[in-house]
Amino acid sequence: MKLTRRQFVVGSAAGAAGAAGIYELVDRLAGSSPARTVSPVRFREQHLLDGIRVVQENDVEVLVPPLHHRILTARVTVDPADARDAQRELERVLAGLDGDYAPSPAGLGVTVAWAGPYFERFVPAAARRLIPHDGRAGTSVLLDAERFPSDPPDTRLERNDVAILLRSAVQAHIDDAAKRIRATKLLAVTSVRRGFAGGGFDGGTSLPKQLAVAAQIPGADLIPDTAELFLGFTSTQRAGMGPGTIANFETLGYVDFRGSDYFRHGTHMHLSHIHEDVEAWYLNFDFDERVSTAFRPNLDVRQGTQTVRQGPKDVSTDADVHRQYRRTGQMGHSAAIQTTSRLLRDHVAADGTTYPKGTAVPVRADFNTLDNPFAWSERADEIGVLPAAGVHFVVFNPTGDDFRRNRRAMDGLLPGGKIEFEPRARGQGFNSVLSTTHRQNFLVPPRAHRSFPLAEV
Ligand code: HEM
Repeated sequence: MKLTRRQFVVGSAAGAAGAAGIYELVDRLAGSSPARTVSPVRFREQHLLDGIRVVQENDVEVLVPPLHHRILTARVTVDPADARDAQRELERVLAGLDGDYAPSPAGLGVTVAWAGPYFERFVPAAARRLIPHDGRAGTSVLLDAERFPSDPPDTRLERNDVAILLRSAVQAHIDDAAKRIRATKLLAVTSVRRGFAGGGFDGGTSLPKQLAVAAQIPGADLIPDTAELFLGFTSTQRAGMGPGTIANFETLGYVDFRGSDYFRHGTHMHLSHIHEDVEAWYLNFDFDERVSTAFRPNLDVRQGTQTVRQGPKDVSTDADVHRQYRRTGQMGHSAAIQTTSRLLRDHVAADGTTYPKGTAVPVRADFNTLDNPFAWSERADEIGVLPAAGVHFVVFNPTGDDFRRNRRAMDGLLPGGKIEFEPRARGQGFNSVLSTTHRQNFLVPPRAHRSFPLAEV
């Protein structure tokens, strides 16, 4: 794609300013922002967004993610003895944001997630007593982060206290929220992670494409112009995303709340940073092989298709994935994960909602980035000078073990048995161009307890 004069000027300026500088470009390329909205909608959950646009792509319903994303990870600065005051102070600021912005792309999504180090240091006794238990796995819902088979040995398992996910179609809303949260001085920010997704659903050139080209990412010219993500396939089709409150702790019945409703309407969040070798993906794999390893082998898809239907009837079972592998030596990203990410039978939740067999469970909120690996970090070796293509991977699951099952399946460790692959082998196509640098698991309390959870108990 030929750079417009404006893109060239801004791109080289941004290039000159390093990875972080590239984000100056975002506002200029993203065009006009939707009108700011405030609304009475107040989810009990922190991870849900209202007003998500749905478009039809290739006769498939696709959820349009917010254009801009930012994550602040942090360490709590106050002394545990002052946690109650800090709880009130942070809640005051978060309630202020609720009042100013609707929980929607046109407004602002704020998700405050807390990790093991916070619970161990600030509320150890209450945490031991009240953090929900995963009856299916026989563990806590909050697991320590681990390295998976296809992770490089130096994947960093992080120990932040808290992570704050900010999402909006309007960059200024995210800037405002980040400023107001940091102004509390309750948190020492350990990293800032920035990114974007989509922007090509109305036929225009998507933000990932424009930014990859402006940042001169190797292989950027090979990314389809309207691609939602660098690797060219739409990843937010409605059928592949957990609907409604399915990822809440309580919905699927895996979780024992141990006699307290404190964390009801809460969920589990996994956060990781993944480098993507865009050039290798497009040069080493032709379109058909990209489809085979992103979805499943022998899927007949028209050349250049970005959105590949993955409805309940398209779901692969354990036996399917093993058969596909025996026949082709290949395993599809979606097909393998579907053996753990889709309901195996109909489920009726306590609130009476019926989730049919084949319904997706995880709610993904991942987004592309040019951070290398972070836009800012308190560790100098985590702020790359040159932009690099990647994903800040964020997903909400009913439990930590539920995420673990998905991620292990992505490496061929299926519930019904292992697919014998060398980690990152070609047949695992997708994994061979991905490399995870950082990981951590978090507990997302319900909105009512989002600030310094359990400090008042
Ligand atoms: C750079 C990394 C990744 C990219 C580009 C990517 C892209 C995709 C794409 C294109 C799809 C199929 C689209 C859809 O059905 O909506 C998909 C599905 C999915 N991915 Fe990934 N993915 C990545 C990493 C991961 C990781 C690390 C996980 C963690 C387990 C994951 C979990 C899932 C899940 C749960 C689904 C839906 C499967 C289903 O139920 O159909 N992805 N991903």
